[in-house]
Amino acid sequence: MAKTYQLKMNLNGQDVQVEVQPFATLAHVLREQLGLTGTKIGCEEGECGACTVLIDGQAVNSCIYPALKAAGRRVLTIEGLAKNGELHPVQRAFLEHGAVQCGYCTPGMVLAAVALLGQNPHPTEEEIRRAISGNLCRCTGYIQIIEAIKDVASRA
Ligand code: FES
Ligand code: FES
Repeated sequence: MAKTYQLKMNLNGQDVQVEVQPFATLAHVLREQLGLTGTKIGCEEGECGACTVLIDGQAVNSCIYPALKAAGRRVLTIEGLAKNGELHPVQRAFLEHGAVQCGYCTPGMVLAAVALLGQNPHPTEEEIRRAISGNLCRCTGYIQIIEAIKDVASRA
């Protein structure tokens, strides 16, 4: 059995500590050890964006992110986005614009949008397209997703 390490991080606003295998990915630790299954696994190769989480406000593919690299950082998953039972404005806009169908890409897509708007509250359509270019959606065709993000930006 490989030696394990204590990983301490701030997860969705709470300090947590979890014992992890040296080569565990963050996606694995979040889903399998911490029970946060809102982070989806698609390709497991850093190509589809389903596993996107925010680390210190930056979108990363957690399926290829070593869990131990998250030590001491702020990790935000889809479970941490709603506050006091209120959806985040990006989540609300996705619902209002019909940007959610099967929902598999949605957590990653929403977090990619949150990262973008955190860095650039008034992105152009081109910037929105670029920000979500690493997130694949097989259902909505992207138009509704882009409209939802534009809507949030227009209200900021
Ligand atoms: S599951 Fe991580 S990018 Fe596809
Ligand atoms: S809503 Fe189904 S993959 Fe995007």
